[in-house]
Amino acid sequence: QDSLYHEKNRPQFHFTTRRGWVNDPNGLIYYEGEYHLFYQHNPYEREWENMSWGHAVSKDLTHWDELPVALHPDKLGTMFSGSAVMDYDNTAGFNKGKTPAMVAFYTADNPDREIQCVAYSLDKGRTWTKYEKNPVIDSKDKWNSKDTRDPKVFWYKPGKHWVMVLNERDGHSIYNSNNLKDWKFESHVTGFWECPDLFELPVDGDKNKTKWVMYGASGTYMLGSFDGKVFTPETGKLLYTTGSIYAAQTYSNIPESDGRRIQIGWGRVAQPGMAFNNMMLLPTELKLHATKNGIRLYNMPVSETSQLFERTNQWTGLKSDDANQKLKEFYSADKIRIKTTFKLSHATSAGFNLFGQRVIDYDMNNNTINGVFYSPADMTSMELTADIYVDRTSIEVFIDGGAYSYSMERKPNSDNKEGFHFWGNNIEVKNLEVYSAKSIWK
Ligand code: FRU
Repeated sequence: QDSLYHEKNRPQFHFTTRRGWVNDPNGLIYYEGEYHLFYQHNPYEREWENMSWGHAVSKDLTHWDELPVALHPDKLGTMFSGSAVMDYDNTAGFNKGKTPAMVAFYTADNPDREIQCVAYSLDKGRTWTKYEKNPVIDSKDKWNSKDTRDPKVFWYKPGKHWVMVLNERDGHSIYNSNNLKDWKFESHVTGFWECPDLFELPVDGDKNKTKWVMYGASGTYMLGSFDGKVFTPETGKLLYTTGSIYAAQTYSNIPESDGRRIQIGWGRVAQPGMAFNNMMLLPTELKLHATKNGIRLYNMPVSETSQLFERTNQWTGLKSDDANQKLKEFYSADKIRIKTTFKLSHATSAGFNLFGQRVIDYDMNNNTINGVFYSPADMTSMELTADIYVDRTSIEVFIDGGAYSYSMERKPNSDNKEGFHFWGNNIEVKNLEVYSAKSIWK
């Protein structure tokens, strides 16, 4: 089975399936040493169809084992996106002896409606039993809309009850429950679409100063407070990531001793000519930092990722032409990581190209990166730091320690002899590091 992963265009350090279509990550949960990654999956074809929950597990968020499909379509519909929790207190009554149930929430989609359903597993997510009284929520008539989907459930400790965030028509609704089966509508925040998540994070690691983050599928978020029933926004819409990423979700049941908020996003990255399609982006850690622009959500690859990369070169204080010379030897790399800090001057536009593709295009006049508004926290030095992960079919860029990040398809242009290069007027490359990348497949 390992040899299946040796195809020419198989991403080398991103999760992909043996075959078939992949979209949203679902049911992200850590339990007994395993990170579970369920995902929207068509096991049979490269196209979106037959939605099922695929399943993979990892011990280190880096190397993945693909397991059999976890949830198959049934008479209520196909298996759309959702989440999972551990029910340690047996609130739903699914537990067996001392074995707590892993409980999944998903949307069953049928031609008429989208309804919220429950399933549970007593064997570490390997096999699942669907709750016989599904669905637990059917809210189409209330919203006069079929768009009611993507339940994300978590335990609200202060109130000792479960919370579900559910996308309903034009935003995210909050529901409460004591038993994971009976759900009561509490409130609604408009202006989000698909795949909600809601979680609390400390600001600069200070547990006494926290904010709640509400996000949707496209990289937009709001900060605010949450009392278990109502999310009260304290900001407008903000943006932490763009590009190929969509429908990201964060892990549940991460031990308190770890305490990280770990996210995986879907990479809408076409895999031309392959038996599989799309991929998962690198797992990242989300943090809140106070900046000159206010409190902002930061997104950086989890520390486990670093085991895949070995630094082979570092240069400091280069003119861009010299840096471009140094980079020539890496033109044929199929997987590589490049870290750089560069200083802009005299340029309305400057940046970094890889394989003829504008990976960083910073416009000082409009304060945009690749067309998206970005205001560096430190405007005086005009320095930009980028951590760039280049795989066979994708590129992920983390700017200024994760203040903004984006992802894109890698589109190798065979006619382009430029390989990697900095461009713009009087660019000073203060730091340039090159890392070789290991494959996650055996
Ligand atoms: C987001 C989404 C979800 C839905 C799923 C279906 O990409 O449209 O809202 O549950 O994909 O595959």
